[in-house]
Amino acid sequence: MIKLVLYSQTPNLAPGLTIVRLSLHVLAATIWVGGQFVILGLLPTIRGFGDTAPRKVAQAFGRLSWPAFWILVATGVWNYLAINHSHATSSWNVVFGIKMVCVLAAGVGTYLHTKAASPQRRGMFAGIAALASIAALVLGVAIAG
Ligand code: HEM
Repeated sequence: MIKLVLYSQTPNLAPGLTIVRLSLHVLAATIWVGGQFVILGLLPTIRGFGDTAPRKVAQAFGRLSWPAFWILVATGVWNYLAINHSHATSSWNVVFGIKMVCVLAAGVGTYLHTKAASPQRRGMFAGIAALASIAALVLGVAIAG
């Protein structure tokens, strides 16, 4: 007989400190990752405000997104320390390692994007940073289980 399993987890409320830790991590991810989508979507409108407008908006976004990135790193270390590693599977460790490479690529890609001299290099680094940020988010959901 084939048994159809529609659910795999018992619903449980998270403890208070876990709510704080994960909410801060996810809130910072919405600013870092979601903000990139918002800026991209608004770019045609921003360009209409003049040649210097995209740079000014990018600099203003940087004042929000870099603190969000460092909150992600700080709460990410907190997440890592809060996990019972004696129960971590080797696939969990591998996915966590790949996520760390993506976080590094997201940070370095964004930094190089802000320093790039040509529009081609700016676009290339923005693309790398955006893809790496999305990958870090998806892998975060995967390791949260
Ligand atoms: C671009 C940066 C990052 C993004 C977008 C990101 C995103 C996320 C997301 C969306 C989750 C899932 C939260 C949930 O479903 O409850 C998560 C979980 C997690 N993240 Fe991150 N993260 C980033 C950086 C980091 C860093 C730097 C570390 C470690 C130093 C880290 C460690 C973790 C851990 C261990 C979990 C699992 C938490 C748990 O199961 O309690 N993250 N991340």
